Amino acid sequence: SANQMWGGRFSAGVDAIMEAINASISFDQRLAAQDIEGSRAHAAMLAATGIITDSDAEAIREGLLTVLSEIEGGAFEFSAALEDIHMNVEARLKDLIGEPAGRLHTARSRNDQVALDFRMWVRDQADAAISGIEALQRALLSQAEIGADWVMPGFTHLQTAQPVTWGHHMMAYVEMLGRDAARFRDARVRMNESPLGAAALAGTSFPIDREMTAQALRFDRPMANSLDAVADRDFALEFLGAASICAMHLSRLAEELVIWSSAQFRFVTLSDSFSTGSSIMPQKKNPDAAELIRAKVARIFGAQTALLIVMKGLPLTYSKDMQEDKEQTFDAADNLMLALAAMEGMVRDMTGNRDQLAAAAGSGFSTATDLADWLVRVLGLPFREAHHITGSLVALAEQKGCDLPDLSLEDMKSVHDGITGNVFDVLTVENSVASRISYGGTAPSCVHAQVARWKETLG
Ligand code: ARG
Repeated sequence: SANQMWGGRFSAGVDAIMEAINASISFDQRLAAQDIEGSRAHAAMLAATGIITDSDAEAIREGLLTVLSEIEGGAFEFSAALEDIHMNVEARLKDLIGEPAGRLHTARSRNDQVALDFRMWVRDQADAAISGIEALQRALLSQAEIGADWVMPGFTHLQTAQPVTWGHHMMAYVEMLGRDAARFRDARVRMNESPLGAAALAGTSFPIDREMTAQALRFDRPMANSLDAVADRDFALEFLGAASICAMHLSRLAEELVIWSSAQFRFVTLSDSFSTGSSIMPQKKNPDAAELIRAKVARIFGAQTALLIVMKGLPLTYSKDMQEDKEQTFDAADNLMLALAAMEGMVRDMTGNRDQLAAAAGSGFSTATDLADWLVRVLGLPFREAHHITGSLVALAEQKGCDLPDLSLEDMKSVHDGITGNVFDVLTVENSVASRISYGGTAPSCVHAQVARWKETLG
């Protein structure tokens, strides 16, 4: 039989395959709450502007609340024949209240309806992402506080570079995540305009009040162009962009946790509650959560790429291609929230192994730069010459199978006879990190200042 929403010009129903490719209800039922909230705001506006009667609006309002409770209670039977959440809700409303249900869709189209619902959903997810990020930042902050003065190797190329503090390393991620949260906030500001009232694409001849619905739905204002309102999904793309960058940061931290928890590094011990064992190797404690975060990031990047590709060739305004915007975004958002929560749990529960970090901090000639700086500061050598002399001393230590602080003063003098005994002061990792007091540097005093600043910011 013909479709109950647009059956007027149709004489036959659709093929089962057509229904399968066309229906979005299996996934867009996630928009039920947004759809019903949007419809309630629309109905209230239609009554306030005299487009429908107050009694019809009241019947619609009551009916929609019933539909919502049926959906929330799990009692609602979604129908693929009704295609999507918008038509499922409206059809049920008609069962419940009869004729007034047919007036709800006045001055509206599914095009502005879906743009609205999805925008509201993405807006909520931006808020959720910000909370998830802040929770993770708090976990990192407390790690930074515990180990503000713990020394560890700082790396470039994953080769020992200079000693840094554990707290400084934790705070690096707090900074990155701070920008991630800011990206979600920025995106939220731009997406917070209401498409409702754009109708199909051209606006409407009914005397609607778009300011009223925008306000009721917590938007800053209505979107200014009806074609744009139904045609763009840049708000979802911006969300996915912010999600991708945040996910990239999570993945780098995950990678570090995988490396750090290995028997070769032993920088951290992960908690049992965020690790798994092996079914064959009894000694194993695996960082699965970190590995899965590293991998789930692929889905988030994929979602952004997929939606960019869906959108890039579409003429204005709505094309059914755009129905493919939702599943990928849902999946990306779900996995981002899960990754943030798992990372928060891992970071909160992990134990930095202070002694092992300190032992590693001193190996690999990590204070060579301090030695070169000393030659510049105390002997007045040009840095390039100091660099060369230090290189020779590293080679000498390597030859002797020892570290820089283990060389004797005679060894030092054999390379440059101006060197004096107080050079050894700068060769300890503690003195090295303590000396890095330039703004943003790794000294414990700097770490404490940054921790205090972030505590204030996060409240
Ligand atoms: N299910 C559709 C979607 O997700 C809703 C909008 C349908 N609009 C239309 N003109 N067919 O995009």
